[in-house]
Amino acid sequence: MAPRVHGTNATERRVAVPADRERHGAKVALVTGGARRIGAAIARALHADGMRLVIHHRASREAARALQEELNAARSDSVMLVRGDLLDIAKLENLVRETLSEFGRLDALVNNASSFYPTPIGRTVERDWDDLVGVNLKAPFFLAQAAAGALRHCRGSVINVADIYADRPLASHAVYCAAKAGLLALTKALARDLGPEVRVNAISPGAILWPENDTDEVAQQRIVSRTPLKRVGSPEEVAAAVRFLVSDAAFVSGQVLRIDGGRSVVP
Ligand SMILES: NC(=O)c1ccc[n+]([C@@H]2O[C@H](COP(=O)([O-])OP(=O)(O)OC[C@H]3O[C@@H](n4cnc5c(N)ncnc54)[C@H](OP(=O)(O)O)[C@@H]3O)[C@@H](O)[C@H]2O)c1
Repeated sequence: MAPRVHGTNATERRVAVPADRERHGAKVALVTGGARRIGAAIARALHADGMRLVIHHRASREAARALQEELNAARSDSVMLVRGDLLDIAKLENLVRETLSEFGRLDALVNNASSFYPTPIGRTVERDWDDLVGVNLKAPFFLAQAAAGALRHCRGSVINVADIYADRPLASHAVYCAAKAGLLALTKALARDLGPEVRVNAISPGAILWPENDTDEVAQQRIVSRTPLKRVGSPEEVAAAVRFLVSDAAFVSGQVLRIDGGRSVVP
């Protein structure tokens, strides 16, 4: 049977939903950068909530396979892996196409993948801009566009993982902060453009997991001391917020939920 095209505008760029399999099985979430750290916690939380999962990864192949095995042991054939560089915009439609051809539907797109490093004035090159803006802003837009038809069909949602630094920039990280600020603007714009069928929300974590190459304990302690809850958050606490927005927030769209222990209310 020929794939059926869904959506309100037949000229839209999107991936067709296969008509024969579209209503079968549990809901499906696609989590980008889902093999490790916060992405893996989001994957586990949505899976524990009964969803099937598409775990996107790029370099973390072993971690992705281990997570797939762990979750498939709990529910067989509930997790598939997709691999790709999100900077390769032309291939983003494939992630959605593979999801639909395996699971037949898409209910939640979680734009979690990110790159993060300093871009000091005077030492930043165009490649840094293309990478940071590409992963944190451009890919979320083009993935949402590719997924729009499938998400509309399931009355699904998009969750963009931003950062409290989008509102209060971290010194020497202008490009990352601007990309995440753009992601918040994109969240609101897409909430308008993809409604009424699709909800679009963001979360802004504060300090959760330090970057793997960050060993500046003094700076880390300073951040914790300025956080009302006096600790860092856990990936599971971030994942719980994503689960809420995906499953329990039927009248919430265009919003940003800060998961930061109160850090953003302290000057
Ligand atoms: N960690 C924190 O405390 C914190 C605080 C505020 C906001 N956040 C936000 O929360 C999210 C998760 O944070 P995290 O620290 O867990 O993220 P992370 O470890 O820095 O990155 C998550 C994944 O993104 C993937 N990725 C990076 N560049 C990619 C590319 N070009 N193509 C495809 N995948 C790419 C990588 O996948 P592979 O490993 O497979 O290559 C990586 O494992 C991010 O959006 C981050 O900005 C985190």
